[in-house]
Amino acid sequence: MQSRLEEGKDLATTLRTSPSRPFPSRLLQFFLLFLVIGIGASILSMYMIRHFGINNMALVQSTFMPCFQQPAILMHTMNDIELFWRASFVPRIKSYPFTRVPKIAFMFLTKGPLPMAPLWEKFFEGHEGLYSIYVHSLPSYTADFSPSSVFYERQIPSQVAEWGMMSMCDAERRLLANALLDISNEWFILLSESCIPLQNFSIVYQYISRSQYSFLGAIDEPGPYGRGRYDENMAPEINLTDWRKGSQWFEINRELAVRIVEDTTYYPKLKEFCIPHKCYVDEHYFQTMLTINSPHLLANRSLTYVDWSRGGAHPATFGKDDIKEQFFNKILQNQTCLYNSQPSSLCFLFARKFAPNSLVPLLKIAPEVLGI
Ligand SMILES: *[C@@H]1O[C@H](CO)[C@@H](O)[C@H](O)[C@H]1NC(C)=O
Ligand SMILES: *[C@@H]1O[C@H](CO)[C@@H](O)[C@H](O)[C@H]1NC(C)=O
Ligand SMILES: *[C@@H]1O[C@H](CO)[C@@H](O)[C@H](O)[C@H]1NC(C)=O
Ligand SMILES: *[C@@H]1O[C@H](CO)[C@@H](O)[C@H](O)[C@H]1NC(C)=O
Repeated sequence: MQSRLEEGKDLATTLRTSPSRPFPSRLLQFFLLFLVIGIGASILSMYMIRHFGINNMALVQSTFMPCFQQPAILMHTMNDIELFWRASFVPRIKSYPFTRVPKIAFMFLTKGPLPMAPLWEKFFEGHEGLYSIYVHSLPSYTADFSPSSVFYERQIPSQVAEWGMMSMCDAERRLLANALLDISNEWFILLSESCIPLQNFSIVYQYISRSQYSFLGAIDEPGPYGRGRYDENMAPEINLTDWRKGSQWFEINRELAVRIVEDTTYYPKLKEFCIPHKCYVDEHYFQTMLTINSPHLLANRSLTYVDWSRGGAHPATFGKDDIKEQFFNKILQNQTCLYNSQPSSLCFLFARKFAPNSLVPLLKIAPEVLGI
């Protein structure tokens, strides 16, 4: 102990008194070293602010101004009741105190992986700022997208969703509610893992942003699979003449999205009286509810092509052998529909259902046939 102390003392004494070391130049060296460290640290912190500051800012804003901007982290601990309440906020002052570029929210309702992700990556490339992505998958599934992917950390807190059950509509409302938290999202598209884009992003954005109507298939279908699924217990909230059927793959605007998230009138009726195997709620709930609420905003058709021509309870699945130019000519060039009340031949922007093995041929023909 004693000798160590003396050693230390000796060293200090040596440093202070040693005539062999030029004392001022030693000081200069220390000074320069600190200078270099100081400059390095400030350059580093400027870099950090430039590259990560936006995220930190969004976090701060999500605390103080929750509606302004997309929260940097999509994961949260709100339950559905808290989330839907939060998402139902609507600004009463219609002019925004910031530059709002309206975005399309692409909401992927999946079981697990997204086999078509490489095609979607190409679709989104170069259009940053005009879209946001949300993915709802089974809670048991953990996504492993790389940080450079557009799907990286776009997963939302999810729960089990079963086809034809209310849990499926719950998942869709959960996607809508999470997407509503970003005030810049103006349009909301529901897609599945087997969906592909049929047009490039510019066409999709133009088509949707210039439409007077939202695209939700909603028809009054006679017969056992349409009106036959109606239950009189749903009245008086829902009468038979209001009952609608359509595919669940919708594109709706912000106003309709809020209506779906805030609904407490129709939800209990459908949950109780539209159950398998008589009724499949994802084909009726939003279609009927929005027909009662906002019929003037509905185009009553879907933007997602699906082939029912093969018959049966499920639409056709397309595999690698289907991916030919003629196949897309049929989908793309032989259609008629109304767009803003005018006849149009551009009717579908998306299509399903595509098997994972169709990805490679799709990527090959995408530039020429799909313009992607
Ligand atoms: C998108 O597709 C349209 C029509 O196919 C084409 O005219 C346009 O140049 C494409 N845009 C981009 C950015 O590739
Ligand atoms: C259903 O019909 C009843 C009786 O005619 C009426 O009072 C009610 O408003 C109708 N509901 C809707 C949603 O139109
Ligand atoms: C869609 O259907 C509703 C009634 O169900 C109707 O009021 C509305 O005008 C239709 N939309 C278009 C674009 O025709
Ligand atoms: C286009 O549709 C018409 C009528 O439905 C049909 O006769 C024709 O064969 C179709 N053409 C192609 C290329 O699919």
